Amino acid sequence: MKVITSHSYEELSRKAADLIGAQILIKPDCVLGLATGSSPIGTYQCLIEDYKKGRLDFSKVTSINLDEYEGLAPDNDQSYRYFMQHNLFNHVNIRPGSTHVPNGLAGDIQQECARYEEVIAREGGMDLQLLGIGVNGHIGFNEPDSYFPAETHRVELTPSTIQANRRFFEKEEDVPRFALTMGIRAIMQAKRVVVIAYGSAKAPILKEILQGPITPNVPASILQLHPDVTFFTDDESMALLK
Ligand code: F6R
Repeated sequence: MKVITSHSYEELSRKAADLIGAQILIKPDCVLGLATGSSPIGTYQCLIEDYKKGRLDFSKVTSINLDEYEGLAPDNDQSYRYFMQHNLFNHVNIRPGSTHVPNGLAGDIQQECARYEEVIAREGGMDLQLLGIGVNGHIGFNEPDSYFPAETHRVELTPSTIQANRRFFEKEEDVPRFALTMGIRAIMQAKRVVVIAYGSAKAPILKEILQGPITPNVPASILQLHPDVTFFTDDESMALLK
């Protein structure tokens, strides 16, 4: 496990983007597992910058996103599909048909989860998985629980996640209560994992993730078992670690 600590969000974002750029360079047809939320926004901006300078080519890249809220249409500005379009896909030359996000409007959610597992299997899993971490230690929307959920599934969001995501919605009632998320197995089977954890809000959980026991109560703690994981952190998120 590697931990790379930066002094600013900009520096951290550039370093994470450089790693992802290197992945695309060495395997142009790579499969990237992507995340939404505030953590990767700066990284996506750097990747767009690199693409615009002609340094990166997304034309053969496939992306598979971690999760989506249940009940939100792709054009809802709070949906994760919308987030990805606006923060990355619309600005680079990735083929639209090669970007995958769970369908939050699927009539049959179980079937949609099974379909998503098939997409992951068909693409041969992720070469690189990008993650943010929840203040409760979730990865994707795999919330703290008594076991690690293996496959893509429907999840009831915890009060802590609803509270953390409240900032993106007008009212708390608007925050969806359910989501679809990739399971822990596909995340852990990614060949490389890149985690972004910045800011003081992540400091307590980051200490548990890196130094605590591996427990489904802190889902991201399982990353201790991954053979190639890099945490991009900043001084604030590292404040409680020696
Ligand atoms: C997003 C996702 C979540 C976020 C996490 C951190 O696709 O799966 O696990 O990465 O909630 O969110 P931010 O980055 O907003 O602190």
